[in-house]
Amino acid sequence: MVVAGQGRIGIQVALAAAAAGHVVTGFDTDEEVAGRLAAGRLPADLAHLERALAESTDEARYHATSDEAEIGNFDIAVVAVPTGTGQGATGEDHGPTRQGPTCLGPPDLSCLDAAIASLARHLPAGALVVVESTVPPGTTRGRVAPALEAGSGLVAGHDFAVGFSPERVDPGNGTWSLATTAKLVSGIDATSRERCASFYRSFVEEVVEVDQLEAAELAKVMENGFRYLNIAFVNELSVVARASGVDINQALDAAGTKPFGYMAFRPGAGAGGECLATAAAYLASWAGSAAGARLSLMEAAAHIDAGRGAALASRLEELLSGIGKPLQGSTVLVAGLTYKSDIPSTARSPGIRLANELVSRGAMVLATDPYVTEDPQLDPAVKVVRALDASVSDITVLVTAHSSWDLAALAQSTSPVLDLTGALTGPSVHRL
Ligand SMILES: NC(=O)c1ccc[n+]([C@@H]2O[C@H](COP(=O)([O-])OP(=O)(O)OC[C@H]3O[C@@H](n4cnc5c(N)ncnc54)[C@H](O)[C@@H]3O)[C@@H](O)[C@H]2O)c1
Repeated sequence: MVVAGQGRIGIQVALAAAAAGHVVTGFDTDEEVAGRLAAGRLPADLAHLERALAESTDEARYHATSDEAEIGNFDIAVVAVPTGTGQGATGEDHGPTRQGPTCLGPPDLSCLDAAIASLARHLPAGALVVVESTVPPGTTRGRVAPALEAGSGLVAGHDFAVGFSPERVDPGNGTWSLATTAKLVSGIDATSRERCASFYRSFVEEVVEVDQLEAAELAKVMENGFRYLNIAFVNELSVVARASGVDINQALDAAGTKPFGYMAFRPGAGAGGECLATAAAYLASWAGSAAGARLSLMEAAAHIDAGRGAALASRLEELLSGIGKPLQGSTVLVAGLTYKSDIPSTARSPGIRLANELVSRGAMVLATDPYVTEDPQLDPAVKVVRALDASVSDITVLVTAHSSWDLAALAQSTSPVLDLTGALTGPSVHRL
């Protein structure tokens, strides 16, 4: 079998399938990615899989390549290439520009189209092609299957099967893995769905068959869209609550005692990572193309999220005024530039958005993160420093609570600390 795309998702699927006995070719157009895997190396956050990579390679059940000629004659192909919005979804961290997020931009399915074209050129009769990449509902049947037919001369549903099984991996989540998270499977017809289910049952504990393909596609973007909406909801509430003197954290603790019909979301830095904003954009795009409708709630959430940096800058301004300083000219240390703790990705990073917003308001901005020394999204005026040392700034804002940091020491800072994570308590610590 072949897995097209050997990034964070594709390599996990490839190694799980190899461990289950499949003989896997990991195809990635990026020569560096394929070369790194061939040399037995994985990105730092996937280092725990290096043993599985070595074993599968030694037993000739896995090899990586960037040469399309090597993907021929497969029985199953899984597609895990990047999908996103706007221009340039070419791989890692295709996030917002310095000017702000492009979260409800048009879908960019160029990598998916290219991967499908590669597979179509080699598609054997009898094969199953499964899309794992996140897509707008309707894409697998309306775009992928016809492209496979056009490139191969075969007929979908007759000569080959087409399935969809959305990825649900949560980077850095030590509890839920590919093997233990229920996996949705669907297909363009019952045979495609059943073949897809049988493939994933070889390495996933719970496989859930969804009759309607478009419902499975919608389920994936709904899951992330739900999160995107709720993050915007609680962040907007936190601004209103502060303005009216209500303690949002007490309100959330109180609401959290309700055992049904409520799910807690905490105010924070904003929606980070590629998946949430992509899902919101795909839902909006699908509503427009499938029903001529607008998803006004998604648009409102995107608007709130785009303004999150400004809202946080105002909160910092308020705290600084408490010690007699204006934001303009003050030194602010932004702690946390990845979009969540203990992972290296800066995709749509709220910390970066905040740092850039503070620069635009005239603050002297220092930033620190154990995973980031530079990033093209950062305004050049932001100075990246190595240590988390609150004494170098007038105020510190903790955006992500990396476990390698001495948070107890930060909590004892003599200058104010705005904690967006809920990880700190101390005399100088302030919350939203
Ligand atoms: N990373 C996550 O946590 C996560 C979670 C859920 C869903 N997803 C979805 O899974 C998909 C893959 O995400 P990812 O995080 O693994 O992306 P990634 O950027 O880490 O890796 C994708 C890989 O695909 C390669 N690629 C690009 N075009 C290709 C082509 N035409 N043929 C072969 N390889 C090609 C890239 O070089 C890259 O190495 C996306 O649709 C994403 O939205 C990701």
